Amino acid sequence: MQNNTFFGHSNAQNIIVLAETASTNDYLKQLLSNFTPLEEYTAIMTMKQTAGKGQRGTTWLDQPGESLTASFILFPQKLTPQKQFYLTIISSLAVYDIVATHTSGQTNIKWPNDIMIGNKKVGGILIENKISHSRIKHAIIGIGLNVFQSQFPSEISFKTTSLLKENPSLQTTILSLVTEIQTKLKYYNEMLLKEQYDELLAHYNQLLFRRDLDALFTVKGNTIKARIVQVGKDGLLEVECKQKKIKYDLKDITYQL
Ligand code: BTN
Repeated sequence: MQNNTFFGHSNAQNIIVLAETASTNDYLKQLLSNFTPLEEYTAIMTMKQTAGKGQRGTTWLDQPGESLTASFILFPQKLTPQKQFYLTIISSLAVYDIVATHTSGQTNIKWPNDIMIGNKKVGGILIENKISHSRIKHAIIGIGLNVFQSQFPSEISFKTTSLLKENPSLQTTILSLVTEIQTKLKYYNEMLLKEQYDELLAHYNQLLFRRDLDALFTVKGNTIKARIVQVGKDGLLEVECKQKKIKYDLKDITYQL
């Protein structure tokens, strides 16, 4: 099932390409549980993911050959579990940079880690950490990015886009995008290793979707009008509602589009 949009040329390093797998996150998890030696940043990518997992227990659907579905391994041994939100930051920044390089629309990071062009989602990230003895033994960074889709089913087309839809003259391959993400992950992870926490958080907050704008959210089944102030070091979303600042965890608040 080799095709030119998938392969092409790249400076690929430590990338395992699978024709088909249930979930690249699960495949990587399996390699780790079998003690397969893997270098940091190794990526597993597949042309067809049959049981892709999304955030909050959802399913991630992709069109074979048109979507990037890949998982990267990180060994953030210096990072305490209290700081694990920084993994969300570095992976969001890596994907943001790649999307911004290949398109020209307004790109933002929707807390915690959706990549948006305008009001439409182009990519999502699922991070699965293994924590043992108060350390993060490994982090699996699973990335789904819509690349070559030219149309989406009508139920989602109002809220979903792809790199090709945003840039009809897109010239790349999925393998090359995986290599680019790998390079960016390394760049931002090195900042993390140098403990540049404040710079990383500030950069993430600069790119935050709907920051400083009044917007509608659902909280405990009710609609509230609030303004996003920032995301804190703890990874919580800080909003201002009726002149009061409130912090929310992911499970407690949803954006209304
Ligand atoms: C989201 O819900 O926005 C997160 C989607 C993450 C999907 C990717 S595709 C590659 C990796 N393998 C999975 O099973 N999920 C992630």
